Amino acid sequence: MNSLGIVILAAGQGTRLRLDCPKPLVPLRGRCLIDYVIDAAAGCRSSFKQSRFGVVTGHRKEEVERALSELFKSKKLDYDFAFQKEQKGTADAVRSYFRDCHWATQTDWTLVLCADTPLLTSQVLEQLRDYTLKYNLNGAAASFTTDVPYGYGRIVREKKGFRIVEQKDASKQEEAINEVNSGVYFLKTSYLVDKLSSVTADNKAKEFYLTDVFQVGESVEPVLLGCESTFLGVNDLIQLSESERVLNQRKCHELMLSGVRISNPNNVVIEDSVQVEAGSLIMDQSHLLGQTKVGAHVTIEPGCVIKSSKISDNVTLHAYSHIVDSVIGQGASIGPFARLRPGTDLGERVKIGNFVETKKSRLLNDAKVSHLSYIGDAEVGERSNIGCGFITCNYDGVKKHFTKIGADCFVGSDSQAVAPVEIGDRSFIACSSTVTQSVPADSFVISRGKQVVKPGLAKRFIRPKEANS
Ligand code: UD1
Ligand code: CA
Repeated sequence: MNSLGIVILAAGQGTRLRLDCPKPLVPLRGRCLIDYVIDAAAGCRSSFKQSRFGVVTGHRKEEVERALSELFKSKKLDYDFAFQKEQKGTADAVRSYFRDCHWATQTDWTLVLCADTPLLTSQVLEQLRDYTLKYNLNGAAASFTTDVPYGYGRIVREKKGFRIVEQKDASKQEEAINEVNSGVYFLKTSYLVDKLSSVTADNKAKEFYLTDVFQVGESVEPVLLGCESTFLGVNDLIQLSESERVLNQRKCHELMLSGVRISNPNNVVIEDSVQVEAGSLIMDQSHLLGQTKVGAHVTIEPGCVIKSSKISDNVTLHAYSHIVDSVIGQGASIGPFARLRPGTDLGERVKIGNFVETKKSRLLNDAKVSHLSYIGDAEVGERSNIGCGFITCNYDGVKKHFTKIGADCFVGSDSQAVAPVEIGDRSFIACSSTVTQSVPADSFVISRGKQVVKPGLAKRFIRPKEANS
């Protein structure tokens, strides 16, 4: 009684999604659709000594199997693939599983899942498992009630056992039943194998229905579980966006219960991989993605996009800042409208102001770049102040070069450093200078054209506008 086979049906084409991507691999919040199903199933294996996944593939098989192999390996889960050549129905798909996964018939129990139900949770699967074991059933189907049962298989309960009638085959009375089949089943493997052998395609769709293994008079039961959204199947882009909404809401609720303020959870995107510490505030329209870690008491103003970055405690990200693969030290202030590109590493209390772009650069503690600058392939020392409109000219058309600015420097506005170049500590660069040669510490640097003044000459250049011009 101690082994579990988990079969995931993923042979379908997913035509209604209208995406050029096999359905199990459709991206959803930084992961793929089937990833959610795998995680939910993986979470309910604990009561079994052994468990193994079998995924039934068909449409774009090679692509799906390649991606899933990587996924299963990264999760350290045992898996195999089965191939369903033609989609002749869900029972036929499960037959392919027993045919191709050599271990499948040896298992005690089988959990059947579909690839396209990302809202499933381990808890719901555990409830289904526990119910089946408690009453020693041969099988159970998770069901739910809905106001709009159209399209789902209807659950017809009887004194002993039950059956499922598909939409196409339902009578008027059956159509009115609002308890429907979720497509999630937990069965004794021996029972499932036995019943599968006699499933026929004798129905309106001429398909082999897996639902036919549930029969009146048998020790099988429907188990009413979860709510409609737990079992939502993603068949089109409307359902995809609905599942995205529910998953995002779950993540936001989890964060809010842990002490993170989110001013409008319907309006932010926070991927599951993101961590945020208590006391932080996330405002409207911000997107927190990938392996992002946000410390405590961080303020994220509206419209920020943060991907795979580490934001330390007490940082303020002003509105509309875009931050990728960057590290931000405690107490720093960023934006509004700042762009931190990969490899940006900011020390404590660094200030990055509006319309500043950084890339592959380290700014040490208390450095300031307050307005309209580009800092690329550079290091800026502690407490140095970079004026408005400074540019590291890091690219010569072929290679990138490094700029090093020491500690306690003052770099005047509208200056450029033509890399490779090094400016020593405590240097003063006069505004509008182009620094092309390295300078030692404590230098004053000025390089700009001399001012020429010709009194009265302006008249020659400022002329009255011509009519109609
Ligand atoms: C199925 C159930 C229905 C239930 C509904 C819940 C059957 C006959 N019906 O209907 O009672 O209410 O799910 O969402 O099972 N697949 C294959 N090979 C096939 C056919 C399907 O791998 O030959 C896979 C699909 O890729 C999909 C899953 O099985 O992941 C379900 O198939 P689908 O055609 O979507 O079934 P429904 O009509 O939704
Ligand atoms: Ca479906």
